[in-house]
Amino acid sequence: PVLILLGPPGAGKGTQARKLEDKYGLVQLSTGDLLRAAVAQGTEAGKAAKAVMEAGGLVSDEIVIAILRDRIKAPDCTSGVILDGFPRTTVQAEALDALLAESGQKINAAISLEVDDAAMVERISGRYTCGACGEGYHDRFKTPKEDGVCDNCGATEMKRRADDKAETVASRLEAYHASTAPLIGYYEGKNALSRIDAMGRIEEVAAGLGAIVEKAT
Ligand code: AP5
Ligand code: ZN
Repeated sequence: PVLILLGPPGAGKGTQARKLEDKYGLVQLSTGDLLRAAVAQGTEAGKAAKAVMEAGGLVSDEIVIAILRDRIKAPDCTSGVILDGFPRTTVQAEALDALLAESGQKINAAISLEVDDAAMVERISGRYTCGACGEGYHDRFKTPKEDGVCDNCGATEMKRRADDKAETVASRLEAYHASTAPLIGYYEGKNALSRIDAMGRIEEVAAGLGAIVEKAT
C-alpha cells in the first residue's frame, strides 16, 4: 500500500508514520529526513537545499522528486510506504501519480492531519530527537523515562533541528498554506482523502489513523 500523510509542520506526521511502520510493516519515506541526510553528506542536492530549508521555504520540485524517486525504488519499499512530507506541491503530486503508475501502484489513502496553527509553534519548538535512532521526543508532550536517555536505544545524544526556531516555523507554516494545503482538494477530487483531528494525544491520533489505514488497505 501507499499512504500519504498530509499536514502542516508539527502536525505529527513523523511521529505517526513511525508508529504505522511498526504496526503495519510499512516503510516511512520522509523527504525532510532524506534532505537533511543530503545536507549532512554535502551532496549537490544537499548544497542546493540547505539555505532554503534553514529559511523555512520549499526545496525545488526537481530536487525533491529526484530524491524521492531514487528512494521509493529500493527493495525495502515494495511491501508498502508511508509518505511523510511528500508530496508538498501539485507538481510533486502529479509526479508521484506518474511514478506509481509505472509500477502499477496507486495511492490507497491520503490522510490530512488537521491541527490549529497556534499549537504547532509549541509542538515544534519543544521537539528533539535521538541522534542515534531518530526516535522523537518533546519537552512537554513526550519525555524519555530517564532525562536525556533514549527509551528506544539507550543513546544519550539528543539533537534539535536547525529550522525549529519560532521565526522559521512561521515561514514553514506559510509555505504549507500556500503550496501544500491545496493538495487536500487534489486528493478529495480523486476520492482518496481522509481527514483526522490531530489535536488529540499521540495515542488517540494513532488509534484513529489505524482505523483509516485498515479500511484503506
Ligand atoms: P519536514 O522534515 O517534512 O518537516 P515538516 O513538514 O515541517 O514537518 P515536521 O517534521 O516539522 O513535523 P511533523 O508533522 O513530522 O511533526 P512531528 O511528528 O515531528 O521538512 C523540513 C523542510 O524540508 C521543509 O521546510 C522544506 O524546506 C524541506 N522539504 C521537505 N519535504 C519537502 C518537499 N516534499 N518539497 C519541498 N521541500 C521539502 O511532531 C512535532 C512534535 O510534536 C514532536 O516533538 C512530537 O513529539 C510532538 N507531537 C506529535 N504529535 C503530538 C500530539 N498529538 N500531541 C502533542 N505533541 C505531539
Ligand atoms: Zn534512540
